[in-house]
Amino acid sequence: MYKLVGTISGEVGLHEFDFVVTGDVRRNEYIKIWSELDGWILGRVLSIVDADKKVATAEILGYKDDRGFLKQPKSTLARDVKVFKADQTFIMDSLGLKSGGIHLGTLEGRNIPVYLRKEELIQKHCSILAKTGSGKSYTSGVLIEELLEKNVPLLIIDPHGEYLSLKYENRNDDERKQLEKLDIAPKGYASKVVIYTPANFSINPEADKLFRIDGINLSVSELYDLFPLSDAQLGVLYQCINDIKAKKEFYTIEDIIKKVTESKSSAKWRMVHFLERIRETGILSDSPTRIEDLVKVGQAAIVDMKGADPKLQQLIVYRICKEVFEGRKMDKIPPLMLVVEEAHNFCPERGFEKAVSSNIMRTIASEGRKFGLGMLVISQRPARVDKNVISQCNTQIILRVTNANDIRALSRGLEFMSSEMEEEIKRVPLGVALLSSPSIEMPILVDVRPRRSEHGGRAVEMVTSEKIKAELPGEERNAVEKAEKKSMLSRLLFE
Ligand SMILES: Nc1ncnc2c1ncn2[C@@H]1O[C@H](COP(=O)(O)OP(=O)(O)O)[C@@H](O)[C@H]1O
Ligand SMILES: [Mg+2]
Repeated sequence: MYKLVGTISGEVGLHEFDFVVTGDVRRNEYIKIWSELDGWILGRVLSIVDADKKVATAEILGYKDDRGFLKQPKSTLARDVKVFKADQTFIMDSLGLKSGGIHLGTLEGRNIPVYLRKEELIQKHCSILAKTGSGKSYTSGVLIEELLEKNVPLLIIDPHGEYLSLKYENRNDDERKQLEKLDIAPKGYASKVVIYTPANFSINPEADKLFRIDGINLSVSELYDLFPLSDAQLGVLYQCINDIKAKKEFYTIEDIIKKVTESKSSAKWRMVHFLERIRETGILSDSPTRIEDLVKVGQAAIVDMKGADPKLQQLIVYRICKEVFEGRKMDKIPPLMLVVEEAHNFCPERGFEKAVSSNIMRTIASEGRKFGLGMLVISQRPARVDKNVISQCNTQIILRVTNANDIRALSRGLEFMSSEMEEEIKRVPLGVALLSSPSIEMPILVDVRPRRSEHGGRAVEMVTSEKIKAELPGEERNAVEKAEKKSMLSRLLFE
């Protein structure tokens, strides 16, 4: 309980102090100091100053007041006061860490579990931001596993096909050993995961179902979402669709193409071209995917968009977001978590390339909580994600970030980011996250727990790595490249 690690000496400020190290301490270690006035005070080692590790600087985090809030001490600490290693109960109590809920991992370097509240994730959104390869998808996989255990419906926008591996249990030996230490069993979620493809089963053989958009009776405004129209083109389209409606109760894109082709306007050819391209993607159907089938209790529906043209991906995300939002408003579907990977592509910050999905994502970010529609936003370019969306996320998980623009964007967008944290996130090791959540008194570093299910990012890295491809013998390389080309959905729009 009372493990002595040093004695206060030298500079003692309101927020920091130095101490002579006599025991075992490391950077970021939690410590405690006794104060006559405030009781036990929680601190954290900022740095070991001296080359011989004999002097350390620590920050004062505060003491717990009667109402349970962490408060700054009322007086400065005296010299010669003893510094102890903080024990588990004291740390959990001071930081507000509770047992039970969504198990994210353990307090960095300590065997103290860190849980998030399920309600907070769903009602107040969550973001995972960090550079490529720092563990975003892995961490999101951990959250998904935990939400699946609690039967929360999940709808996962998966641009790279990384999430289908949730079906299989983790096969990585090192990670399985770590899991065993934590007393967690590896597990696959095949019975709960359904993979949808907007392409077809020959392009995506792993898919369970087709993802289709309603192609019957497309209105002018729905078509306007799909491609930009000039006023003249809009006029032609209105006229054509009205003419069709006068004769037919149900019409398809085929009917529209025919009618537009017959029109006398000179504005028609570009429209015919766009309409044909949309038809060619095969995404339109008379038996569209129902939102009630995508969003079900105990199910994670993965929309695997691997190989789909970026514009088509944005269109899909737009349609899904719209239907999910409407579905929740009208209570057609249960409360859910919408997971959006590569969010910068679907709700880009102003000044970057536009996306049709931007507005609806912003709406979900600001209003989704009213309807039990939570969002998990993931991106490797924090600076490029709509800051309105980021700022609506109350739980923030930040892994390693090194890009100066991204760090600046994080500091501007997130209140809790201090200059020390900016330095910290540049150097955190793989799998360590800076976590800020409303239920925790202050941001903490977390060792994200190993995955129970297989992590798909590994396979993706393999497939897309140009380096690996370059090392293949010519014939095999050609085969891989051919397969990759084939898996590109027919290119849509704007060329
Ligand atoms: N918490 C973790 N524990 C163990 N390995 C991890 C952890 N987080 C990430 N990794 C490893 O790092 C690699 C990259 O992680 P990934 O989530 O795919 O990165 P990102 O999505 O940020 O590009 C993974 O393949 C995995 O092996
Ligand atoms: Mg990833």
